[in-house]
Amino acid sequence: MKEPRRLRLVNCAALAICSMLIFLVYATLFQSHDTVFDSWGYSLQNPSCNLSSERINIDAVDPQEFLLRRLVRGDDRVELDSNGFSCHTDIYSKVCVENKPVRIYNKGLTVYVPNDDHQPRVKRIVKPYARQQDETAMRVVSPVEVLHGNNTIDQPPACNFTHDVTAVVFSSRGFAGNVYHEFNEIVIPLFITTRHFRSRVKFVITDYQHWWVQKYNRVLSHLSAYDVINPDDGSVHCFPGAVIGLKFHGQLALNITDIPGGYSMFDFRQFLKESYNLKTNHVSEFRKPVLMLISRRNTRRFLNEDELVEMMEGLGFEVTRVEPERMSNLDEFAELVNSCSVMVGAHGAGLTNEIFLPNGALMVQVVPLACDWVATNLYGAPGKPMGLQYLEYKIEPEESSLFEKYGKDHPVITDPESVTSKGYFAYRTVYVEGQDLKINVQRLKKTLVEAKQILETSIPFNR
Ligand SMILES: *[C@@H]1O[C@H](CO)[C@@H](O)[C@H](O)[C@H]1NC(C)=O
Ligand SMILES: *[C@@H]1O[C@H](CO)[C@@H](O)[C@H](O)[C@H]1NC(C)=O
Ligand SMILES: *[C@@H]1O[C@H](CO)[C@@H](O)[C@H](O)[C@H]1NC(C)=O
Ligand SMILES: *[C@@H]1O[C@H](CO)[C@@H](O)[C@H](O)[C@H]1NC(C)=O
Repeated sequence: MKEPRRLRLVNCAALAICSMLIFLVYATLFQSHDTVFDSWGYSLQNPSCNLSSERINIDAVDPQEFLLRRLVRGDDRVELDSNGFSCHTDIYSKVCVENKPVRIYNKGLTVYVPNDDHQPRVKRIVKPYARQQDETAMRVVSPVEVLHGNNTIDQPPACNFTHDVTAVVFSSRGFAGNVYHEFNEIVIPLFITTRHFRSRVKFVITDYQHWWVQKYNRVLSHLSAYDVINPDDGSVHCFPGAVIGLKFHGQLALNITDIPGGYSMFDFRQFLKESYNLKTNHVSEFRKPVLMLISRRNTRRFLNEDELVEMMEGLGFEVTRVEPERMSNLDEFAELVNSCSVMVGAHGAGLTNEIFLPNGALMVQVVPLACDWVATNLYGAPGKPMGLQYLEYKIEPEESSLFEKYGKDHPVITDPESVTSKGYFAYRTVYVEGQDLKINVQRLKKTLVEAKQILETSIPFNR
């Protein structure tokens, strides 16, 4: 049996030598500033780079193996090293890593690993979408079968296309259609999972949705040097290795210490800046304060939006009001957001676009009745690592359409907990989908005056 190709770690004196060698290997292989930087992150964080003992056999260094190993740790890494294969499941995501040739067919839904007939037959099922805990989302994500071992009974079809870089298989369905979920469960996880491949990776998109691929074309083309693969035509694709599923670090979050390691929200925003050609790095670059007002159409609408715009303009803001349709052309919309210093909107997915605001910009989230927790956790807290400032405007019951609908003494108004305790769907129907907002203009004005002061004090050189 062939020895697995891997780093032979024998007799290395110290961290410096170990890091230095990996540094040199990467520098030689890719000769890119980014990669060099990244290789430091890698070598310093890779626990199995045995610091006590070493000589690296440079001939044996396999870039794909290196890159795949970063996606697992602990027992999973031990398993990957010995079997060329391991899967990790946590409550949010399930990711399988194959450091072996694979054949992907059946519309991307079967990943067959031919070269391990000596292993017992194993079939694993992965739904490649980073919201495993959510049955509603997962119901529309097609399962991918990963077949290992003695599958002589059903030999797979021959390759139509043979690729020489790693495949990453993920679904473009789930809650796609809602921009929050598109970033939270696909775009950020895709960045986390594949950035360190430095574009030497091909995306195999299951549940292929053309609009989604078009919408995120810039993200996809900056993470991969190749066209995405739509396996729906039934063709058979062969790869030297594969990742099935995407890693998840938290709500709109990247965790620099979690695997594969080294990426923070700062890095992700830098990536967006490059991908979308965003010009403004910091609000201090603006000559005048531009405020983006996120307008909603169906629920949580501002019923007196014109009055709000008038008040904002009265305070000296140039107001850009945006409707949902405007957001579908992300290439243009990202630049528009990046030209604003304040974003104001009612709690809702549109606020996800805060991710394109320049550093130091300020988000004012209008919090409808009984939406405090979701508002703070889904859009408020994630703004901080983005370098944004944040204010909340919590409405009074009188500012909710529910006040008029139910009357001031109804439990919907006086005791939201009594509704919330009936479960998410009861909660959603009443507060998330059943509520519009008639804002007290004078009250919101106070918050915006505060916003203006914060911006002015944080931009001492504002002209
Ligand atoms: C590092 O090498 C030492 C000595 O060969 C060995 O005892 C130890 O288990 C190794 N650690 C790792 C993480 O491989
Ligand atoms: C693989 O499966 C076939 C059919 O069940 C069996 O005849 C063969 O012995 C198996 N090979 C190994 C190596 O287990
Ligand atoms: C793939 O190859 C098979 C046989 O080699 C052929 O019948 C089939 O048409 C090919 N499919 C595509 C999409 O190229
Ligand atoms: C980041 O990841 C590390 C390592 O997995 C973990 O210990 C830590 O709790 C994570 N931090 C956050 C904020 O999730």
